[in-house]
Amino acid sequence: GRVAVLMGGHSAERSISLASGRECLAALQALRVSAEAFDPAQRPITELVDYDRAFIALHGPGGEDGVIQGALEAMGLPYTGSGVLASALGMDKLRSKCVWQAMGLPTPPFRVLRSGDDPGAVIAALGLPLFVKPLCEGSSMGTARVDEAAGLADAAEQARAFGDAVLVERCIEGPEYTVALLDDQVLPAIRIEVDAAFYDYRAKYQSDATRMVLPCGLSDRAEARMGQLAQQAFAAIGASGWGRVDLMADADGAFWLLEANTIPGMTDHSLVPAAAGARGIGMDALVARILLTSWR
Ligand code: DAL
Ligand code: MG
Repeated sequence: GRVAVLMGGHSAERSISLASGRECLAALQALRVSAEAFDPAQRPITELVDYDRAFIALHGPGGEDGVIQGALEAMGLPYTGSGVLASALGMDKLRSKCVWQAMGLPTPPFRVLRSGDDPGAVIAALGLPLFVKPLCEGSSMGTARVDEAAGLADAAEQARAFGDAVLVERCIEGPEYTVALLDDQVLPAIRIEVDAAFYDYRAKYQSDATRMVLPCGLSDRAEARMGQLAQQAFAAIGASGWGRVDLMADADGAFWLLEANTIPGMTDHSLVPAAAGARGIGMDALVARILLTSWR
């Protein structure tokens, strides 16, 4: 059958998605799958009826948040990764955290700050330092670390470019870890080391100083505990197939859930291909496995 590799789209992560999509398309072609690029920013998605399956390499709102998944459901076209509900929840950091909290899974304390709210009350509740994030973005778009009370209003204003309500989260100093999930398999955890205040857009895609440390340096027991937490967090929002869960460790060695990514980056700088590679799963094999995922 014909596979449409969905890449590009309308979100702020469009260029990352094009890079992810290019890598996935090359792997599918190397596997002799009949696959073509399909950019829903340039073609009406109704043209997808000509295909047999969608491989979704879209990031951010409109592509990773259940919108395209819902359209594909309605068209009866199978697609990779999580379904509508899990995609929508995974894109929304606030609602993900609400689900985890309700299920007793650890996630840093947080507040929502809307324009007109008192930033002082948020600082009184959470302390400093803080992280300020748009509710529904990826690649650290609009995210800032706030070390002094005076910085919160500016950081919130920046995040507000993506929507009025912003997430304010207590800072866990780290290190930061990420765990890639592929079906029932937990891939080796990666520790992220950055030459910056945090793992921001530059550190993710542009800096040569960012290090993906693999093996991550934790004891086998601690890594297994983190892997299990990542699986629980993923399952809690109903996600399945493949994805990546980002966490922070604190000074006591406890892990805290930051977010789940239902369509993580697949660029040559990305974490999931690196984690798979450490398990002996090359890019072609990884993409072949993802192609077969489907939440149904
Ligand atoms: N949102 C980016 C693509 C990631 O999670 O890898
Ligand atoms: Mg994300």
